Amino acid sequence: MTMNHIGPDAILQKKREYLIPCVYHFYKKPMQIVRGEMQYLYDHTGRQYLDFYGGVSVMNAGHCNPEVVEKICDQVRTLQHTTAIYLTQPMVDLAEKLSEITPGSLKRSFFCASGSEASEGAALLAQLHTKKYKFVAVQQGLHGRTKLTMNLTGLPMWRTDPNPSGDIVHIPGAYCYRCAYELTYPLCDLQCARYLEDVVKNGGFAAFIAEPIQGNGGIITPPSGYFQLVREILDAYNVLFIADEVQTGFGRTGEMFAIEHWGVVPDIMTMAKALANGTPIGSFITNDTIASSYARPGASTMGGNPVSATAALTTIDVIERYQLTQKAKDLGDYFKDKLIELQQRHKLIGDVRGKGLMLGVELVKEDKIPATEETDNILEGLKDRGILAGKTGVSRNVLTFQPPLVITREDIDRVIETLDDILYVSL
Ligand SMILES: Cc1ncc(COP(=O)(O)O)c(C=O)c1O
Repeated sequence: MTMNHIGPDAILQKKREYLIPCVYHFYKKPMQIVRGEMQYLYDHTGRQYLDFYGGVSVMNAGHCNPEVVEKICDQVRTLQHTTAIYLTQPMVDLAEKLSEITPGSLKRSFFCASGSEASEGAALLAQLHTKKYKFVAVQQGLHGRTKLTMNLTGLPMWRTDPNPSGDIVHIPGAYCYRCAYELTYPLCDLQCARYLEDVVKNGGFAAFIAEPIQGNGGIITPPSGYFQLVREILDAYNVLFIADEVQTGFGRTGEMFAIEHWGVVPDIMTMAKALANGTPIGSFITNDTIASSYARPGASTMGGNPVSATAALTTIDVIERYQLTQKAKDLGDYFKDKLIELQQRHKLIGDVRGKGLMLGVELVKEDKIPATEETDNILEGLKDRGILAGKTGVSRNVLTFQPPLVITREDIDRVIETLDDILYVSL
């Protein structure tokens, strides 16, 4: 341990003493992370970890990507913050860039500092535009930690609010492995999407909000046709579609934005996390018509600040120049095939799902009983062997992989071999 690093025990002690206890952490024996370098993190002892969780789908261009870091440092040294009441260039350049890379007529952005704020702002915009106030959201979805976004969130684990507010209906998601209707795709005729019509036909709904692939909910990946049908239903009842791309955006799934897999254009799209590769940022984007409904002054002190905006512009540039979206697709296909091979050898693996480098492995015991404890043990085992992964799902039994998009096939092979070994040896 170097002089500067107090080590995990002292950190845990300070955490217990000074943080609100809701701030939880992974691992029975956690380490102190002190440094990052592309797909690697290093702890206080100098030990290297291959990071296959990317700070929860944030570090798409890699930890401390030198090109991003250089531009951030230049910007910090030149101009750090003004607030949008003064004119600065990075914010408008970023808005222009986002209008180019987002689908369809999405064009006008509002910048804030987190994914929760992005969801909250998108919901407000939908209400302002439609003059309707109810929302439909998806069970197991996650949209944020503020009052409204926590209530839009379907995942019980994150619905801490003891006094839920907002007129919100949660519908079953396209969770084919545990279908709420006990049907099988495609014979199901997308019953989960059709149920949306039963809800919105009652009137009064401003928007339907959904993650194209649910991240925290367990990498729940709707089948082909799902969002196309959702879009048809919403159009028929004049309800807006908010796509929450906070986890799925910026090349992660093998498309720049995950909703593009379904060829559907949302009315409003939210983004955060990977947008600025680890620098706090959030944003929502919409078309000209919807944007025109939000003309009263709106401001976020940190929104569009020169450092975050520069970090975002450079991150997008890196994603494009190094073709990280295509890389996510190719490496993701390779990784998923290998995980499916593992599934054939290990009964504990019930389902493998996801797209690109956003993959989930649902671990189950007999009769699909969630293998929650086993998931924790595997995570700990991977960490002890120098690999970081995530866990998601209602029962926290979905091993989750969302690595930086700069990984290699050899990295994937190492994860597969290690996981194979852990599944054989330690369970
Ligand atoms: C899909 C999705 N939306 C919104 C949020 C909230 O983002 P933040 O934690 O930046 O407020 C999250 C956080 O994990 C998320 O996964």
